[in-house]
Amino acid sequence: MVIEDASIILVFIILFISLFIGTFIYCKTRVHCRCEICHAYVTSSWSFEFVNLCDWYTHLLKNSPTKTIHIHVLNNTITSNQQNVEYMLKTRFENYPKGKAFNAILGDFLGRGIFNADGESWRFQRKMACLELGKMSMRSYAFEVVNYEIDHRLIPLITSFSRKEHEVLDLQDVFRRFSFDVICKFSFGYDPKCLDESFPLSDLAVAFDLASRLSAQRAMTPSPLVWKIKRLFNVGSEKRLQESIKTVNKFAQEVIRQRNKLGCCCNHEDLLSRFMTTTKDPSYLRDIVISFLLAGRDTIASSLTGLLWLLAQQPDVVSRIRAEALIVTQNKAMTCFEQLRELHYLQAVVYEGMRLFPPIQFNSKFCLQDDVLPDGTFIKKGTRVTYHSYAMGRMETIWGSDCLVFKPERWLKDGVFYQETPFKYPIFQAGYRMCLGKEMSLLEVKSVILSLLQRFDIELAHPTLTPRFSPGLTATFADGLPVRVCERRGHT
Ligand code: HEM
Repeated sequence: MVIEDASIILVFIILFISLFIGTFIYCKTRVHCRCEICHAYVTSSWSFEFVNLCDWYTHLLKNSPTKTIHIHVLNNTITSNQQNVEYMLKTRFENYPKGKAFNAILGDFLGRGIFNADGESWRFQRKMACLELGKMSMRSYAFEVVNYEIDHRLIPLITSFSRKEHEVLDLQDVFRRFSFDVICKFSFGYDPKCLDESFPLSDLAVAFDLASRLSAQRAMTPSPLVWKIKRLFNVGSEKRLQESIKTVNKFAQEVIRQRNKLGCCCNHEDLLSRFMTTTKDPSYLRDIVISFLLAGRDTIASSLTGLLWLLAQQPDVVSRIRAEALIVTQNKAMTCFEQLRELHYLQAVVYEGMRLFPPIQFNSKFCLQDDVLPDGTFIKKGTRVTYHSYAMGRMETIWGSDCLVFKPERWLKDGVFYQETPFKYPIFQAGYRMCLGKEMSLLEVKSVILSLLQRFDIELAHPTLTPRFSPGLTATFADGLPVRVCERRGHT
């Protein structure tokens, strides 16, 4: 009886709190804004005309004279204006940090890691990471890790698959497994073997996926209070998030403990071992490495998926990639990092693929003090300001009237790769917080694309299907990338 009474009281308390929070959120988040854009956002009526939210934003941004729009209900100003991007990422960098809201959303998962840090802590980690990643030995290690995974897992797996007639393979899943193996080996020196032929379910990969997905979901609630209350009561998605973080932490702590036991005599080349020479704090080390896993896992899989979807419809581009490789490598495997740099056309293809399908479609900062963007948009302190890379890649004002055409030649001048300003193409971000894994990403994506195209013909299983994206931190095709693969005749 006492227990029953207690439950009834608890239900009333929760109902009361929910009512209070609901009213508070309603007032705080301005859900009642009646402007056309907010109405379409709140009622999801945009989805009658557009498959993806990013396509609707692109449409709005294209039609805005300043190339900037406001979603009042989210207190979010979204821009695809190159001058605004330069302003927030470089000119007034200090006024546009990631901010406390973002730190809180990813704090449980990423702790104080570089991805989630601002100010001194970020500066220190960035300096340390730049030093390590810039070393020649680190590049050779990355090349070695990537090529081991290609030769010993990716190619054998796809070869055996190509011999099964009419079978359909989800390449996105293959790429996710591939990139998780690579980034774990690179960051921890640990091999989860996700791309083994049996397609094993790795506890770490499952927990890591869940933690990233549920952390991203926090950002989609109308107010942080929603997930904070759920966390307080340890219920629903917040309970699952805490459990998955626990699994990731247990794993990271074990690797760090083992590495500490071995001491500095083991001569490992991975990032963790390198960072261990500068700090011994296990929780700090854990945070740094988890940030790298997040940064380098889904982004690579996403860029490969988008690019392969495009290439499967561009036989002429595929032929040119093969022809260039024939000249540079004599159709043999790459032997060093430098050889990849000679493939200018391939580099242009990779850049063009990410222009149309950026792995990170948008990126937000929080404005510290009232400000005015170069296009005249007033930004109130505390507003979220987002630059939209996906929309920027599809702007006529930036890329010309053929902006929707896949055209690698736009990146070449006399056959040599020519880089545009990163403020026009902020795929790896730009300014002071530019991606630290850019070189490694290009190495990885180019190596995979080349190895696949040299050995296989790849066709889409559903060529007429337009990609639908799943919500999350990184662009993911909701229906995967189902393909049929055929071994090329005469290839050794
Ligand atoms: C195609 C692949 C990749 C893309 C498109 C990409 C893109 C980005 C973007 C947009 C950011 C800014 C994120 C933010 O501040 O919120 C970023 C930051 C970062 N990326 Fe990448 N990334 C890729 C791969 C990688 C890889 C493989 C690594 C690791 C080896 C890496 C390491 C980092 C780090 C450490 C940061 C944080 C930099 C800082 O805050 O100072 N990224 N990346």
